[in-house]
Amino acid sequence: VPPERVRNFSIIAHIDHGKSTLADQLLIKTDTVENRDMQAQYLDGMDLERERGITIKLNTARMKYKAKDGQIYALNLIDTPGHVDFSYEVSRSLAACEGCLLVVDASQGVEAQTLANVYLALDNDLEIIPVINKIDLPGADPERVKREIEEVIGLDCSNAIMASAKQGIGIEEILEEVVRRIPAPADNRGRPSRALIFDSYYDIYKGVIVQFRVMDGELRRGDLVKFMNTGTEYDVLELGVLSPKPVEVDALYAGEVGYLAASIKQVADARVGDTITLKKQPAETALPGYTEVQPMVFCGLFPTDADQYPELREALLKLQLNDAALRFEPEVSSAMGFGFRCGFLGLLHMEIVQERLEREYDLDLITTAPTVVFKAIKNNGEEIIVDCPSKLPEANRLNSISEPYVRLEVITPKEYVGSIMELAQQRRGEYVDMQYLTETRTTLVYKMPLAEVVTDFFDALKSRSRGYASMEYSITGYRENDLVLLNIKINAETVEPLANIVHRDNAYYVGKALVKRLKELIPRQQFKVPIQAAIGNRVVASENIPALRKDVLAKCYGGDISRKKKLLKKQAAGKKRMKSLGKVDVPQEAFMAVLQIN
Ligand code: GTP
Repeated sequence: VPPERVRNFSIIAHIDHGKSTLADQLLIKTDTVENRDMQAQYLDGMDLERERGITIKLNTARMKYKAKDGQIYALNLIDTPGHVDFSYEVSRSLAACEGCLLVVDASQGVEAQTLANVYLALDNDLEIIPVINKIDLPGADPERVKREIEEVIGLDCSNAIMASAKQGIGIEEILEEVVRRIPAPADNRGRPSRALIFDSYYDIYKGVIVQFRVMDGELRRGDLVKFMNTGTEYDVLELGVLSPKPVEVDALYAGEVGYLAASIKQVADARVGDTITLKKQPAETALPGYTEVQPMVFCGLFPTDADQYPELREALLKLQLNDAALRFEPEVSSAMGFGFRCGFLGLLHMEIVQERLEREYDLDLITTAPTVVFKAIKNNGEEIIVDCPSKLPEANRLNSISEPYVRLEVITPKEYVGSIMELAQQRRGEYVDMQYLTETRTTLVYKMPLAEVVTDFFDALKSRSRGYASMEYSITGYRENDLVLLNIKINAETVEPLANIVHRDNAYYVGKALVKRLKELIPRQQFKVPIQAAIGNRVVASENIPALRKDVLAKCYGGDISRKKKLLKKQAAGKKRMKSLGKVDVPQEAFMAVLQIN
């Protein structure tokens, strides 16, 4: 297809504003998929995504559209993941486009994620077409939302499209506007070939399927290609477009979007943002914007049953084939035995991986509380990356500790501003800015340690705003702080997975609350169990779990058999998620207790 008849675009929206529903409508309207084939929301492929109702992995679809000008166009819809953990992938998808649809819910208005996505679109110089969705809702107020978009984003909304993805209103108009307003890709067919990878996923039969946008030149089946940043080379075995099912083609030219398969073993070998060029006539420089994503959040994963360790390793290796951001390395702890220290982009990414390990691989895991990556400087000047609190060198050998900071942006109805400011302060937030978006809604900006955000900040925000506030954050860098290692001892033994790095000012409070919570969570044993929180050798809080009274079960003997069975069954179920630390059984919840004490 010649560039003048190609349009590359994506849809950006806040979660739940109707992106997937709209994408489905575009596919139906262009006869790309038939209505009866349409599983609810074609573009959201994975089960987990459907269940959680959020797009995690990207997909693209090429649609054939006969416009009112009589020409047939190839419209490439490039889907973007809808979560802050995956913003690098969003930025690379947008880099593959010339324009985007900005979908805003007519009953809600601009939210934090709308803004974050718009900034990314502006960074990539995209033509933005505003679409006011859900105009069928009784609470819809399209005029207010238009004003909001104009005031907050500075985007002209005089020709915003009024739509209802649910009822199929405005769909044709959207397709026409995509053709009319989004620029055709530049005609770079004569240049040395370069293609931008914006997504890749693993297929058990074909190896990694690489999705790309040809920026310059062309790619053909049979070409020997080189990935410029990873330096690897492959023969292109299959070339095609997704529509959304794969359709093979012989060649793809500058401006077009497609996929290739080349027996690539894992997605880490075909990284998002990398540039594909030809081995024979390579381009001089790679396309800009490539970064290797770094995991920001770490946790320990331990099988409850030590025999499952090899299975856990196999499962992690398999997941990694399809997840370039997942990191793991073996971790041995005297308390927990053998397991893995795993790194993730953020909390959602972490939860998804845990859930898949348990559901798809049938593993029983103990997960330790997530921590961020600290940097420590020793007295001799050596810098140490601390992705696990127990790796922190002893205090007397430490010069300083720094932690990652984020710029946090919250959008909320104004009546919750006070309560949210209080929350931000509790979480060591530093006020940066506050602005009224409209008469009723406000945006708040804070600098905050990432560690405070990855605990239950989002939940706390939601509960303080009755679900109305939205948030977004981006990492800004590291900052030195007065941080200390808080150790937890159970039955006089240090339990490394319960250790935390906390601000000195909070150490006493956190220690006290954590010890108290552990006392509630750890079941009584046959003997008294002391629990202590300590900084170095100094105990800052302690509690005792009293010994079990022996007659609890005894009551059942000889008596009601069914009750006894029930009790034993309950005990067995409880055991599943227990880890024996020395002589003490500790349930899964205890390892997450630190998340609940703010
Ligand atoms: P993510 O995948 O998380 O980014 O969400 P999304 O933006 O794709 O939202 P989705 O399409 O899943 O829609 C969210 C909810 O809004 C669903 O329950 C849809 O049925 C509903 N919805 C979408 N469009 C409309 C609309 O035009 N009118 C009404 N009333 N509901 C809509």
